[in-house]
Amino acid sequence: MTSLPDLKAQILSLTRDYARQAHASHRPAADTERSPWAEGSPIPYAGRVFTEDEVEAAVSSTLDFWLTLGSEGAAMEKELAAFLGVRHSLLVNSGSSANLVAISALTSAKLPDSRRLKPGDEVITVAAGFPTTVAPIVQVGAVPVFIDADPITGNARCDQLEAAYSPGKTKAVMMAHALGNPFDLSVTLAFCRKYELWLVEDNCDALGCSYSMPRPLAESLGFSENSPGLDEGPDRVIRWTGTWGDISTQSFYPPHHLTMGEGGAVNIVRDQKLKVIAESFRDWGRDCWCPSGIDNTCNKRFGWQLGELPEGYDHKYTYSHLGFNLKPLDPQAAIGRVQLRRLPEFIEARKRNWEFLRRGLAPYDNWIGFALPTHATAWHPDQGHSWDASGCRSECSWFGFKLAVKAAAPFSRTDLAEELDHHQIGNRMLFGGNLLRQPAFVQLRQDNPEALRVATSLEGSDEIMNTILFLGTYPGLTESMLSHEVEIITKLIERHG
Ligand SMILES: Cc1ncc(COP(=O)(O)O)c(C=O)c1O
Repeated sequence: MTSLPDLKAQILSLTRDYARQAHASHRPAADTERSPWAEGSPIPYAGRVFTEDEVEAAVSSTLDFWLTLGSEGAAMEKELAAFLGVRHSLLVNSGSSANLVAISALTSAKLPDSRRLKPGDEVITVAAGFPTTVAPIVQVGAVPVFIDADPITGNARCDQLEAAYSPGKTKAVMMAHALGNPFDLSVTLAFCRKYELWLVEDNCDALGCSYSMPRPLAESLGFSENSPGLDEGPDRVIRWTGTWGDISTQSFYPPHHLTMGEGGAVNIVRDQKLKVIAESFRDWGRDCWCPSGIDNTCNKRFGWQLGELPEGYDHKYTYSHLGFNLKPLDPQAAIGRVQLRRLPEFIEARKRNWEFLRRGLAPYDNWIGFALPTHATAWHPDQGHSWDASGCRSECSWFGFKLAVKAAAPFSRTDLAEELDHHQIGNRMLFGGNLLRQPAFVQLRQDNPEALRVATSLEGSDEIMNTILFLGTYPGLTESMLSHEVEIITKLIERHG
């Protein structure tokens, strides 16, 4: 009879053969075994990029059949935390869940009363973006306070934070690094330090983006260390986005920088207490922190007395929060671990693809408004970006290639989107545009006008909603696909020129 290890090895070897044949079109663009793209076939804006390695990892973990978050999950949590240089990463089943866990953690009674987010307290956020950056704020009974977004960076107008502050009520800032462009962290961190506010970075679209500051400024904000693998010399501090705030979140849904199918993570940057609280919210609200299948990590499973429970009530069934169960499966983590090894290559591919499109479309800047990284003042074909006087810089591993159709253009954003659709070129609007105009938020305001607050005019968010779309930058795009995109847009422009 074939031994179990031999049987498994045979299955995995066949799995690799199958995946190599079945999924050749999903390999990274630079992979020599990738099936070529034929002109006229679809060009998605994003998608899974993987090889037989991910399929083998998924099958191997499935054959082990632990299923629930286990050894693969624990390993991925360590590896992600090590990549980012944060204290802990907790895996969850989506980026939306990560945002829900992150904001829920701030409501915990285990935090000092003055910092705890209570019903009716305010969280400053930005009007343009993805809805589940904001929805969790409402879901925990807090009030989102909206500032505007800048159409060029796609990010929050951080100069408006002061206008949104409400003494005694504002407890946190929670915003996304839009489409892989870091928001102005120097201004936001100074604001959060001034008023002792939590900063939650929604890093779902920005894994592998970085932000740097002159060392004295960084040190005045409490940062002296670079993130692992990043260095801009002794006079500057450079860190990944997602490592400047208190908590940050990731999405591992397929269009994102790496995928586990569905999935996400909550990164706890420094504070061990926030890790225990966030884990509790992820895991049913329990007080116990034993990994699945393990008992008595605290060595006093029957030695606690909490709440109004009897002395010695099982710690495993003691609940200190009104929690959720938002864990992913172990086979997803097995896939994620392989993807994490590809992350440096994926980060660079996204930068290259953005640059390729930027160069290709550069002649049309009278009609197309291009994105600039936060703190950049201009893009030059030879020297890259020039920077503002703040001394801060952002380096984008772009989630997408954002472009605005200017008012002067003889075609509309819809004309462009339809042309791209006609040629099966994936394109997207900037998620929900001005979220306040979405039916869910209109309804929220109708049901309870106090449920949200708008601190400033939202004209930038409206402009984003009305003029912007984005193309893909994901690592599955080859040069011929990108050239085809440039050619289709060029032809549209020339037809109108
Ligand atoms: C900025 C941002 N936050 C959160 C999410 C939600 O992530 P998920 O789809 O994994 O729930 C997304 C999704 O794309 C996003 O773009």
